[in-house]
Amino acid sequence: MNKNVFHKLSYGVYVVSTWDNGRPTGCTANSAMQITSAPATVAVSINHDNYTNKCIKDTGRFAISILAEDSLPSIIGTFGFRSGKDTDKFSEVEYRVEDHMPVVADSCGCIVCEVIDSMETATHTVFLGEVKGAEVFGDREAMTYSYYHKVIKGKSPKNAPTYLPEE
Ligand SMILES: Cc1cc2nc3c(=O)[nH]c(=O)nc-3n(C[C@H](O)[C@H](O)[C@H](O)COP(=O)(O)O)c2cc1C
Repeated sequence: MNKNVFHKLSYGVYVVSTWDNGRPTGCTANSAMQITSAPATVAVSINHDNYTNKCIKDTGRFAISILAEDSLPSIIGTFGFRSGKDTDKFSEVEYRVEDHMPVVADSCGCIVCEVIDSMETATHTVFLGEVKGAEVFGDREAMTYSYYHKVIKGKSPKNAPTYLPEE
């Protein structure tokens, strides 16, 4: 099996956020997709070891901030290479509250969801969210995963579904 073919799948770069006892938290994720349009539903895949997974299960809600090509690259690092268990990520990244959920201000827009179902895999929970709110922030180009790798020269950490060990 040539797993490199997975790199041919296209994605965006997102911050999946929620609340942790009144404190905003979240993680970087590429695994967000629209499932249906009416009622609008989306899905995200979040690793069991990510603190965000526990917080989404506790609150039953999550938001997806869609990062832009010109979003500060450090946002991806803050949310993607550290844990909200011991870091207050949103103390370094400006956020706004949309439909009662914290979202990254420096983004293209956001989708706010209530969890209506979930599925456990060996390593990740797939959360199905019914969309409760959605906003567009200005007219910005969404960052693709390919742009993240080719232009920003970013990497995928172990908990990203797209992670492949170096050969
Ligand atoms: C570009 C990128 C994409 C990522 N995609 C995912 C993803 O789709 N699902 C996931 O569980 N983790 C993903 N991660 C890894 C998490 O962001 C990372 O494990 C984070 O530190 C978890 O933070 P938390 O413990 O505060 O939840 C990604 C990281 C990066 C940098």
